[in-house]
Formats: sequence, C-alpha cells, structure tokens
Amino acid sequence: MSPGVNVELISAALHLDVQTGLWQADADTAGPIAYPAHQNDACFRLEDGSFWFTHRNKCLITAVRRFPPDGFILDVGGGNGAFMLAMLKRWTRLEGVVFDLPGVAERTRAKIAVLAESARCTVEAGNAFERVTEGADCYVLSNLLVSMADDEATEILQNCRRAMAGRGTVIVVEWIMPTGTEQPDEFRRWDTASMDLNMLAIDGALGWRVRTRDEFEHVIAAAGLVLTRVVPTTSAVSIIECTGT
Ligand SMILES: C[S@@+](CC[C@H](N)C(=O)[O-])C[C@H]1O[C@@H](n2cnc3c(N)ncnc32)[C@H](O)[C@@H]1O
Repeated sequence: MSPGVNVELISAALHLDVQTGLWQADADTAGPIAYPAHQNDACFRLEDGSFWFTHRNKCLITAVRRFPPDGFILDVGGGNGAFMLAMLKRWTRLEGVVFDLPGVAERTRAKIAVLAESARCTVEAGNAFERVTEGADCYVLSNLLVSMADDEATEILQNCRRAMAGRGTVIVVEWIMPTGTEQPDEFRRWDTASMDLNMLAIDGALGWRVRTRDEFEHVIAAAGLVLTRVVPTTSAVSIIECTGT
C-alpha cells in the first residue's frame, strides 16, 4: 500500500445495498474511489506505486511484442502513463500520447516531464466520451471499459474508430470472463473473478463488470470495429485487438 492512502476514506464511500446484497458507491460519495473525476491524489498514488500495475505492464509489454506497435500510439484513459512509458522504453522509435481526464492528465504530465521519454510522449487532457485525438496508428484502452456500461464502452470505441479514419488498430486490455469449458485463471490477486466482484460492488447497477469474449465482440461490433484476435498475457488481462471494418 502506498504511503498516505486513506483506506478509511475510500471504504467509507461504500454502503451495503440491502436489496442486492452488494456494496455500492453513492453517486455523491464516489469521489474518494473515482480519482479521475475528483482528482483524488490518494488513488493516483495507490495505482502509481502498486505491484499489480508494475507486474501487469511488464506482462503486457511481453505480449505486445507479438504485434509490435509502430508509429504513434494514443493511450486512452492512460492514467499515470506507466504503460505508455514502458512501451516507449521498449520501442525507441515509438511516439505516444497519454490521453486522460484533466485532473489525471495534469499529474501525469508533471510526472513524465522530468523523464527522458518526455521527448516522445505528450499528455493530453480530454474526455473520451466527447473525442479522442485523431491520426494515431494504435489506440490503447487499458482497464477502461471494465468500469463502463455497454453503451458507454461502445461510445468510446466509436470515437476511436472515427479518430482512426479507416486505418490503424484498437487494442483493448481487459479481463475476459471465461464461459462454459473455458479455463478460469488461477491468479490469487487481481484475478478475473475478483475483478468482476469489485466492479459489481463499485457500480454493478450501472453495468460495470468483466465481460465475456462474446460481450466484447458485441460492444466492439456496435462501434463499427472488428475483433481480430485475443492475445493472452502472463497476467490476468488479455489483449483484444480490433481493426476498422
Ligand atoms: C483504471 S484506470 C486505468 C489506467 C491505465 N489505462 C492502466 O491500465 O493502468 C482508468 C483511467 O481511465 C480514465 N478515464 C475514465 N474515463 C475517462 C474519459 N471519459 N476520458 C478519458 N479518460 C478517462 C481515468 O481517469 C483513469 O486514469
């Protein structure tokens, strides 16, 4: 746990919904959990220094090597920029933009400004529901759609498709819920089942959840994109690659 994180404050924002039996966040008290909208420093620091994100990013970089991104990458909801920085370190000709809501973008910009990679990385503030930056070769959406309802996920994917202007790739990094005979993952932390429970508890009523592959195909197709392949990683998340139709 990062120093200075106020766990009491975060948990105090939850209440037990007696009808569903789930812990829910009230819309007006969700601030301490949802750092993006409310610029919550504690949550930013928690994510920035966490073992899970560091480990996951290493796994992603290894898996992304299978289809090395080249050119210009836009990380939509790129948060603290850790994934982008890892990619820029790995591929030295790559350039990137971390795109996030204003409060987060401000912190990420300050963090990246002092690093060598800042020459190839800019940080843009914006709301992906309104637009995303045009002309990237690859749009990354990592851990973003899990905290959105289907129509919201589709809206953001549609904005990426528009911004791609008929070429490029969208890479969605998410947990995928196994169905039928598919093997559940065996991770002890941040595994698919726990992540699904977390999302249901935080805002299940609004549609937050871990999706199955079919459910991803549905929101991706509704955005006018095609799911071309799913690449597993050595962490609990997979890489879902999409192209324009
Ligand atoms: C769970 S974090 C994931 C961060 C990073 N992509 C990663 O995988 O480590 C979700 C990020 O999406 C950002 N976000 C949420 N809604 C957004 C929106 N409408 N437009 C841009 N960014 C958004 C949040 O501010 C946050 O940084």
